[in-house]
Amino acid sequence: MIKVAPSILSADYVNLQRDIEMLDNAGAEVLHIDIMDGAFVPALSYGPGWVKAIRPITKMVLDVHMMVQNPERYIDDFAKAGADIIGVHVEATPHIHRALQMIQNAGVTPEVVINPGTPVAAIEPVLGMVGQVLVMTVNPGFGGQKFLHSTVEKIAQLEAIKKEKGYTFDIEVDGGVNNETVVDCAKAGATVAVAGSYVFNAEDPASRVQALKDATK
Ligand code: DX5
Ligand code: ZN
Repeated sequence: MIKVAPSILSADYVNLQRDIEMLDNAGAEVLHIDIMDGAFVPALSYGPGWVKAIRPITKMVLDVHMMVQNPERYIDDFAKAGADIIGVHVEATPHIHRALQMIQNAGVTPEVVINPGTPVAAIEPVLGMVGQVLVMTVNPGFGGQKFLHSTVEKIAQLEAIKKEKGYTFDIEVDGGVNNETVVDCAKAGATVAVAGSYVFNAEDPASRVQALKDATK
């Protein structure tokens, strides 16, 4: 059964506490927080202040996905704000190894993220130092996009490397995940599923959290 990481990008910001409490009660293990800087991706979202505000109101793991150019600039801010996992894109810095070291030194779980157009080979040298790999299953920047099936092969490649080298990192997928696309992801080795629009564009979001789990039993 996959761990579910709802993305608050699709939540009701005016009623954020209500939505987060609902997700806690629905059994979601991870809360996915999308940080967008208007440079690495076109949109702007929110910053460390949101992580700080959310920290005391949930027991979920706070998973900060930095869609930020040169993320090194903000790693300490997100660590101090209470992030449990900080994800940095390999495409966003010439110094991915150093960025992951910074996350480690801040006492936070390091995560490396790859875009749909980036091969697994680009992150192979740092796989031994991460607690989670995030495979983007859409091009980052917006919620509600269509799942790209070509990315599933990369999940399988990561799973094979994990087995071969004895690594224990989680494999997370993000973008266009629903009760159908999650099945192929889990079969290929994904252990954490981010879901924004699938969870929140529903009458009963809690049932969608459960549906993702049921689909991957
Ligand atoms: C996209 C973000 C995602 C987004 C997913 O750039 O990284 O986390 O919220 O939204 P859905 O599940 O609607 O594709
Ligand atoms: Zn994300």
